[in-house]
Amino acid sequence: MTTLETSPEIGGIGHSKKRVEDARFLQGAGNYMDDIVLPGMLHMAILRSPIAHGEIVSIDSSAAMEIEGVVAVVTGADLEAHGLAWMPTLSGDTQAVLATDKVRFQGQEVAAVIATSPYIARDALQHVWVDYNDLPAITTPQQALLSESPLIRTDKEGQEDNVCYDWEAGDKEATDAAFAAADRIVSIETHYPRSHPSPLETCGAVADVNPATGHVTVYLTSQAPHAHRTLFAIVTGLPEQNIRIISPDLGGGFGNKVPIYPGYVIATAASLLIGKPVKWIESRSENLISTGFARDYHMKGELAVTNEGKILGLRTEILSDNGAFYADAQPSKFRAGLFHIVTGSYDYPAAHVVAKGTYTNKAPGGVAYRCSFRVTEASYLIERLVQNAAYELDMEPADFRVKNFIQPEQFPYHSPTGFVYDSGDYEKTLNVAKEIIGYDELRRQQAEGRSDGKLVGIGMASFTEVVGAGPSKDYDIAGLKMFDSAELRVHPTGKAMLKLGVKSQGQGHETTFPQIVANELGIPSDDIALMEGDTDNTPYGLGTYASRSTPVAGAATALVARKLREKARLIAAHLLEASPDDLEWEPGVFSVKGSPDSRVTIQEIAFAAYTNHPQGMEAGLEGVHYYDPPNMTYPHGTYIVAVEVDPEDGTWEVTRMVAVDDCGVRINPMIVDGQIQGGLTEGFAMATNQHITFDEDGNCIGSNFMDYLVPTAWETPKFELGETVTPSPHHPIGAKGVGESATVGSPAAYVNAVIDALRPLGITNIDMPVLPDRVWAAVKAAQAG
Ligand code: CDP
Repeated sequence: MTTLETSPEIGGIGHSKKRVEDARFLQGAGNYMDDIVLPGMLHMAILRSPIAHGEIVSIDSSAAMEIEGVVAVVTGADLEAHGLAWMPTLSGDTQAVLATDKVRFQGQEVAAVIATSPYIARDALQHVWVDYNDLPAITTPQQALLSESPLIRTDKEGQEDNVCYDWEAGDKEATDAAFAAADRIVSIETHYPRSHPSPLETCGAVADVNPATGHVTVYLTSQAPHAHRTLFAIVTGLPEQNIRIISPDLGGGFGNKVPIYPGYVIATAASLLIGKPVKWIESRSENLISTGFARDYHMKGELAVTNEGKILGLRTEILSDNGAFYADAQPSKFRAGLFHIVTGSYDYPAAHVVAKGTYTNKAPGGVAYRCSFRVTEASYLIERLVQNAAYELDMEPADFRVKNFIQPEQFPYHSPTGFVYDSGDYEKTLNVAKEIIGYDELRRQQAEGRSDGKLVGIGMASFTEVVGAGPSKDYDIAGLKMFDSAELRVHPTGKAMLKLGVKSQGQGHETTFPQIVANELGIPSDDIALMEGDTDNTPYGLGTYASRSTPVAGAATALVARKLREKARLIAAHLLEASPDDLEWEPGVFSVKGSPDSRVTIQEIAFAAYTNHPQGMEAGLEGVHYYDPPNMTYPHGTYIVAVEVDPEDGTWEVTRMVAVDDCGVRINPMIVDGQIQGGLTEGFAMATNQHITFDEDGNCIGSNFMDYLVPTAWETPKFELGETVTPSPHHPIGAKGVGESATVGSPAAYVNAVIDALRPLGITNIDMPVLPDRVWAAVKAAQAG
């Protein structure tokens, strides 16, 4: 439990305050993208490619232009005339805004209709005639690498194959030596399927270019408004001081609202050319087929172990499917995101990761869907491997983990792929999880045999994450260093306004960040308002994704509040006619040491800052802090799942699910639990049925919620939560991120549980999603032979 330093009235760190933002969300009073209506606003709809790969022979928009209410039809050729047909991606590649030469995935943007109503715009799409010359579609990375496969990126000079990156981390020689010394090598080959963050609110924009002033205001579904403003300035050539990005309330993001999408650029270009505001809102299917997907990693992993159960080394090989444009939203230096955290919670000297990315005829993306840039895939692979290694050595999987855990005294721990883990107590966390679920009793019951013809399985995952990108030495997105910032203004009446460079999509920032200030300054958190998402009125920051808000903006918030506390000390000394060194601080009050009646409250100090500040001192009580984290934070957890599998039809049911998380100091324990519950639901979704596939022509299967199955409350199991608290030593308040841990850590626990149930049949591998027909087929194959 996090210790409380403030009273409930102040409501600082550790108080489970109810979310203040929910008052407006629950009353339908949020202000989402589609709520924004501007005078004279036009509407845009996008025509998308029905095929996955083909040359554009011609586009005829004359019939659409005849329709009453249609103002313009924009094509790639129109944008090309203004140098806007292509834009840079966050991974340093290029992406078509509107296709000019050929289409490269089903759902790609081909033309846009601007009309006086959204219905006219959408109806008119049917009257834009596009003639395509079909090309064979490439739908897997293996196919992409075949020499006879067509070249997808014919637009890129010097591009002769379908490879978009080659990358490696770790030490090959040391790893080969570890494998040569091993008693056994345990291997698995698996695919982490393509999925989609599918936020409840789809993406959209309202672009408002004022022809008289040249000012451009773009309301954007953006998790990173400041970075988007800079990239907008670079792409369009517009002066950055004239661009204002406003990200209103967001109905979820989960990584999907990090990239810049063609729709944003087309709407802005249209508003610029027409001189009126233009609104674009995606449909559900458009969101699912064309915006940032996640995962799609084909992974091979090998663990070198001794007969005594010690891990000596890890080797992994990744083939990633990046779609038609390499647009992964990730730090530039790391071509496979932070996949190299794949060494996990375990201590061994050698690891080597190789990764190759491929272009395919699928939507681009590779976004950090509730994860820190590919940590989900990494965590899944290592936790599947250690579970299988334990089986091969005939060891209890929990004991095998404990034998190999990094020990508390080894922190800061230097991993063989270059990370420096800040803190952790893995065994303690695992033991809490075991205790809550009654692990030994569960294993005993399992050993007793089948229940009603069903197979019982127990699976575990003890993950370590890396969040809080990141130290500017190594982390940037499109060249922008990944610091973050906080600006704090304490008004004369002692109430305050906190402004951040990050942007909540529903995580509860309006509640938790004021709690940090309350802890540091003693101003009640209810007296502190939070502003995010308006680039004209908040300090620069890289945004919210990859669970970086608490590690980076949370630290900036604590440090700006501490700056103000130091100024408050000087004002207090002036008011109390004492030396600043003679003052003592308790939340909200400075008093003279040894004479507690000589005291001033933070509210009195704030008033004095504007009415009676010491001569020679700058008036006011406000400041800004830009925080460049010295390191990432490394939250961890142990999740244990018990399942019953029916071998007759392959269905499986979760009977218990225990999640113990350690995210350091918890600012708001209730919000942390909410984050974990949500993350666990998404992890369960991934393990069970939430995935997108394509047919051999590249048609997307998963373009709607009938085919792309997000779980409802009905299917979702009950989650039992526990906690341990290992503070981050370098974070000013000892907090680590938590927003995504559960999605990262839990899928392996489910899959391990199903495999544990099927082990008596000799089954050691099953791929996600663990659909009943997959289980059934594996059981039948095992029984047959
Ligand atoms: O970047 P994002 O907001 O998605 O993730 P996060 O920083 O992990 O935080 C998610 C929510 O949980 C925020 O509202 C945080 O303030 C809260 N949180 C907390 O109360 N204590 C922590 N140690 C970590 C997060």
